[in-house]
Amino acid sequence: MINVAILGFGVVGSGTAEVIEKNKDVIKEKTGAELCIKHILDLRDFPGSPFEKLITHDFNDIINDGEVDIVVEAMGGAHPAYDFSKAALEAGKHVVTSNKLVVAQFGTELLETAEKNGVRYLFEASVGGGIPIIKPMMSDLAQNRIDSVSGILNGTTNYILTQMSENGAEFSDALKEAQAKGYAEADPTSDIEGHDAARKIVILAALAYGKLISPDAIYCEGITKIDSKDVALAEKLGGHSIKLIGHAEKAGDKILAFVAPRLIPAANPLHDVSDVFNGILVSCDMLGDAMFYGRGAGKLPTASAVVSDVIDIAVKSEMKAASAKWEDASDSDIAPLADYVCAHYFRISGCEKCMAKVFESVERSVTENGETAFITKPISEAEAVAKEKAFAENGTKVLARIRVL
Ligand code: HSE
Repeated sequence: MINVAILGFGVVGSGTAEVIEKNKDVIKEKTGAELCIKHILDLRDFPGSPFEKLITHDFNDIINDGEVDIVVEAMGGAHPAYDFSKAALEAGKHVVTSNKLVVAQFGTELLETAEKNGVRYLFEASVGGGIPIIKPMMSDLAQNRIDSVSGILNGTTNYILTQMSENGAEFSDALKEAQAKGYAEADPTSDIEGHDAARKIVILAALAYGKLISPDAIYCEGITKIDSKDVALAEKLGGHSIKLIGHAEKAGDKILAFVAPRLIPAANPLHDVSDVFNGILVSCDMLGDAMFYGRGAGKLPTASAVVSDVIDIAVKSEMKAASAKWEDASDSDIAPLADYVCAHYFRISGCEKCMAKVFESVERSVTENGETAFITKPISEAEAVAKEKAFAENGTKVLARIRVL
């Protein structure tokens, strides 16, 4: 019998309890693991809930209970989630988390603490909701060098962009729906401004390259400036969709990582990843491209990933060789975005003549209602910024610039 304590009885915590209880039989049948929920920590009481009797308001009930093997941290936020995780690891308890903020900020330290104490710190649910991505990157792809990782990593923004492009929904209505469905963060600013995706891409970059970059150190642009005009024009210019993408790649001996809305060409497997779904494209030197796809947010999908880690611990009595070992990245490990090369979508005021004053040739263009949208050949970020300046000097307004994946 493996005893589990759950910290936080919100969307993910209550989902974890539900998955363990409802699928107890199937878990036992498939893995041999017998899971038992012993405590649930929350500030609130839950009268009438089937888990009512397990609720405690005191973390000491968990940390001092020698029978608790695994602590599931589903509190969200940095504190006290980090502090409780650290204390649990130091007390010799395994910790499983869905908290990308804590993993992105304190992952290196918590992995070290786990190793020192002979326990594990697992975080499958921190990226991609229910999609298995962390364990595959740690073990199944270990024989590959990872050239790049590009992913739709935030279900809320993908849901909003899909509602805007397919159903003509207003941004604020689509956001409200995403909140009602339990996809959004407590403060949805971190979804729509790209901070949630930034935390997730630095975790994936650490799995790929062994160094954990602070999410605050990477360029991060959300979806609040995406105009429905750009969604329509991107489609006209060769059938592109627009998605919020977290991207990481090796740039020499440095790591380049950033989050920004991107035009996705029709042939790219990320093009049709819609609604709350996430898609993560991992380019490897031996395997080639591998695509991971599934529900990126929501109660039961995320809880499914949490319980997969609980089972992983339950069925392996010894520490697995493939526990992640990271270093915190220093400034010199991070490549500047200025060198990143890709095609760019521009929307400018004026006609194609205005465009031709700055770009000798482009891949494709369309002029409508006194504005011109076009896609450039691949240019560096520094060149794209210089072109923006050149337009301004010619009296042409750059109304949008979006990088193409
Ligand atoms: N707010 C997050 C999202 C939840 O929308 O993807 C899952 O991490």
